[in-house]
Parts: sequence; C-alpha cells; structure tokens
Amino acid sequence: MTDMRRFIERMPKAELHVHVEGTLEPELKFDLARRNGIELPYRSVEEMRAGYDFDDLPSFLEAYYEGMSVLLTEQDFCALTTAYLTKAHSQNVLYAEMFFDPQAHTTRGIAYDTVIRGIRRAQEDARSRLGIRSQLIMCFLRDMSADSAAEALEQSLPYREWIVGVGLDSDEKGNPPIKFKAVFARARAEGFRLTMHCDVDQKNSTRHIRQTLDDIGVERIDHGVNALEDEELCNEIMRRGLALTVCPISNDCVTGSLKALEIRRMLEMGMRATVNSDDPAYFGGYVNENLVATQEAADLSRDQVVRLVANAFEASWLPADEKRALRGRLDSYVESAVGA
Ligand code: ADE
Ligand code: ZN
Repeated sequence: MTDMRRFIERMPKAELHVHVEGTLEPELKFDLARRNGIELPYRSVEEMRAGYDFDDLPSFLEAYYEGMSVLLTEQDFCALTTAYLTKAHSQNVLYAEMFFDPQAHTTRGIAYDTVIRGIRRAQEDARSRLGIRSQLIMCFLRDMSADSAAEALEQSLPYREWIVGVGLDSDEKGNPPIKFKAVFARARAEGFRLTMHCDVDQKNSTRHIRQTLDDIGVERIDHGVNALEDEELCNEIMRRGLALTVCPISNDCVTGSLKALEIRRMLEMGMRATVNSDDPAYFGGYVNENLVATQEAADLSRDQVVRLVANAFEASWLPADEKRALRGRLDSYVESAVGA
C-alpha cells in the first residue's frame, strides 16, 4: 500500500453526500428480500452486481428505486442504516450527513414514521456503540410534483428535531430548482438547512446552479461541478462561501469521468470542494475509495487531500463546538503524520 493511501485511510473524515438508500449492498438486499418474502429478478449477488452497469443518471435511478422494494419495516431501515454507519466507521468517518428519500417509500405504502424511526434508531445505536455521529437530510424527489414535496415536508414536521436540512434529488432533466421555490422557502421558515443536487453534465446545469443561488438560497450544492463552466458563477459560490459535495466515483459511473481534474481546479481556485460517496453500494466505492481515486487521478498533494477533508468538517451542519472538536481531530492526525 502506498503511503498516501494509508494516510487517506487512517485520516479522520466527514461525509456530506450519501443517500442511505444508496448504501443497500446486494448481500443485505438479498437478506431483506428473503425475510420479507420478496422475489428479486436476480439469482445471486454476483448477478445483481453485474446488472449495475449505468451510463447515465436515469439508468442508475432505475436500479436505485427498484432496490428499495425490499425495505418494508422499521427493522429494515434500521439494518440498512446500521450497515452504512458501521462501514463508514471502519473507514474512520467521524461524522456523516445522510440523505433519505421519504417519497420513494410513502408512495409504496410505507409510513413516514416507519422509515424515520428505523433510521433514527440506527443513528442512536451507532453513536453510542461506535462513536460515529450522524444527521439526516430529507430529500424531495424532483421528478415528482411540488405539491408532493410540500406533503413530504408536512409529514416531516413531527420529526423536526431529527432532520437537519432538506435537499433535492432524483432526475434533474426538466425539473429545475425553481419548481421547488415555495417548498424550500417553507422549509427555511421551519428552520431546515437547505441544499440541492445539481447533477453533473445535465441539460441546463449552469442555469440550475444559478437558480439554487438566486431563487432558493442554498447553503451547499450537491455535485455542482459544472459551475466551472461559468466564471461569474464560481465567483458567486466563493463569495457566499458555499461548499460543493462532489462524488467522483458516482460521476465516473454516470458520465465516464471522475471529474478529478475539476476537483483539483476547484481547490486551486479556492472553492470549497469536498469528496463523498453518493450511492456507494451501486457505484462501488465508499469515501476512502473516492478520495484515493481522486488523489491518484489528479495527483493531489497531501495538503490538497487534507483541504478536501477539512472542507467537509467545516461545511458540515453541526453546532460550532462539535465542528471545532472534529476539525481538531483532523489537525492532530495531520500533525502526528508529518514526516511519517
Ligand atoms: N438519488 C440518489 N442518488 C442520486 C444522485 N446521484 N443524483 C440524483 N438523485 C439521486
Ligand atoms: Zn446524490
């Protein structure tokens, strides 16, 4: 193993862009299908993995939503979240902000309460057993209506203390940020932090990123790599100090490029890029693999790798004291690793 790989693997990290439903590994999917009496269109884990051959966002989303059919009970959501947090902990992730997609479950007849209680139980258990801290971000599905998003927001209110922010995901084509202007304004009024996906190489990518700034007022941008095509847009993102949660292996699976050189350019310009896993069970890499792939492809220096991870701690939606404490653990690690 190279020194750099070891340095990355042992580094205390934060993850800001991971869909909990996208962490459903084939083995657990088979277990849950068996437990719930659901027949899957695959005979084995290998056959399922071989079917994960995506060339764009819609082809990935088809597999992603199909995979959720095995998630029925509170116990299932708890098992899913426990598996992710255990894996993240094994990669020295100290803190994770996880997206979940309630509409993808309530439209299948699963109660909002079932979904969120299962996830919450796993978060509490992982924190007390492993020490890993996590928070939840509720995503609205942008290929559903704004009314449906408003209904999901309403359903979330009894659980307000369990959700730190709201986001927007699913198929971006024809579903611009502005479609959800009213629901995001309402979410802000309820005290939620705001972020949105601006997926990579979409039709109208830069226009959508501009809308997240001017019409929505997001505090972070998920992906957002295409901002680099517009100098003014980059300047505005930097002026506002917004972080971008980039997901290189996901980018590679849906666009054919890790966008590693773009990440390096962001760092060189002073943009607050971070590296994340997105849907690791489908794209085949958790946060360590994403950082290693980016470092190797863009020949990042150790300082640049540390900057990516420091950006994630700094852009997290934790209270300031907790943020400082986690950042301190990164600084101690880097100090102890100097010359190693
Ligand atoms: N849902 C889960 N992963 C997603 C992604 N990368 N983009 C849009 N929607 C998603
Ligand atoms: Zn995502």
